[in-house]
Amino acid sequence: MRKVAVGIAVACGVAAAAVVVLRRMKKAGKWVKAMEIVKDFEEKCATPLSRLRQVLDAMIVEMQAGLASEGGSKLNAHQLCGQFAYWFSLPTLGKRRDCFMHWTLVELISVCYDWYSEGRVVVSSINNLWSVDSDEFDDRVFIGSKLAKFVAQEGPDFKPTPGRQRELGFTFSFPVVQTSLASGTLLKWTKGFSINEAVGRDVVDELTKAMERHGLDMRVSAFVNDTIGTLASGRYADNDVVDAVILGTGSKAAYVERADAIPKGHGPLPRSGEMVINMEWGNFKLAHLLLSEYDLELDAESLNPGDQIFEKVMSGMYLGEIVRRVLNWMAKEAAFFGDTVPPKLKVLFILGTPAISAMHQDTSPDLKVVASHIKDIFEISNTSLKMRQVIVRICSIVAMRGARLSAAGILSILWNMGRDTITGGEKRRTAIAMDGGLYEHYTEYRKCLVNCLNELLGKEVFESVVLKLSKDGSGIGAAILAASHSKYLGWDD
Ligand code: BGC
Repeated sequence: MRKVAVGIAVACGVAAAAVVVLRRMKKAGKWVKAMEIVKDFEEKCATPLSRLRQVLDAMIVEMQAGLASEGGSKLNAHQLCGQFAYWFSLPTLGKRRDCFMHWTLVELISVCYDWYSEGRVVVSSINNLWSVDSDEFDDRVFIGSKLAKFVAQEGPDFKPTPGRQRELGFTFSFPVVQTSLASGTLLKWTKGFSINEAVGRDVVDELTKAMERHGLDMRVSAFVNDTIGTLASGRYADNDVVDAVILGTGSKAAYVERADAIPKGHGPLPRSGEMVINMEWGNFKLAHLLLSEYDLELDAESLNPGDQIFEKVMSGMYLGEIVRRVLNWMAKEAAFFGDTVPPKLKVLFILGTPAISAMHQDTSPDLKVVASHIKDIFEISNTSLKMRQVIVRICSIVAMRGARLSAAGILSILWNMGRDTITGGEKRRTAIAMDGGLYEHYTEYRKCLVNCLNELLGKEVFESVVLKLSKDGSGIGAAILAASHSKYLGWDD
């Protein structure tokens, strides 16, 4: 009897051990599967120098085509390098102090420009205009009422000179065809915006109507894309600034080109001999860029499928969403977070780029920043250290690809300006004004971009290139441009 009991006990023990082993094998199998997914993603996102050079060459071809003729670039209406902006003159020393406002869709800034001491600008601002319902946002009433409220609450320092109309620098961070200094037609929306009736309309007209409705005695005296604003404020602070890049929610670059180097021309040459090329590089797409299935799905499910492909792999709006998609797939295919897929993992755009930046830059030994973000955002509380390390790796893959592609984009501009080499032993300083939250706050992204530019240019040329953070440069630049094109210019002289 005892023998039978022992036999049964042994058999049960063996069975239990077998279950444990099987469970472990299953778990190990899932982990292997999860790691395969990460490895495959990493390979698809790889940007060795050889690949970056292909990207660069393709971008240069597009830029040249865009400059050569109207419609020359394959990118049709939103040519990569086809949009000209006027090379606005910038304010210099004068005799008075006056106020100019700058307004974007996300931020309202009032700038007091001190004409006596060049460079002194006093700024008061309100942010977070994003936090409105879309139907409210869609309405001109909203825009007008926000402006009216802002003006009403401003302190005495920001009031315009009595008897004068207030002037506004309007930064617009979407593709437009600029028709004059203070007018431009919206070509399309990007970055998840979609108000169809606005496409094809003059954006300044719309804003002017909104201001009139609210009885605001104001006029737009400069209407600029954010890159132009950044270029203007960058150049205002440093004469060697020839290029501006926005790396924020979206991305774009603008640079100064010799007007006679632009074959398709645009009427008489400007007196300065220079023109600004507004480069919608976000819309760049290329065969050599290996897009992963996550990128393709993101694009297909976006409001603008097939558009803004470059932007969708390197700008702030999308990096977090790509990471989310990879994690979601790992949860589904390899039970990375357990037997069921945590519901929050399926929510589009729930993971923002600030969160992946914080996780990527977590230096705590147990990666507690990662743990808390995963818990707060996805409601997943049981991550092991090993899992957190994998999450950091995915954030890094996505950010490094984006940063290296941005570096290739910047090099394409330097190439166009002939500043990618040292000619005749002469080292010319090239300054690039950088604006946007991605560049400003995501340190690892910024470091990777700078290192990659160094790799691409070589030490000697790289030493003559300076990337300068131009914080709020796009807005301040617009206000400075409004000041320099004020209708009251010269009144007090
Ligand atoms: C827009 C550009 C803008 C850039 C940066 C892109 O999505 O197309 O016009 O300059 O974002 O804000």
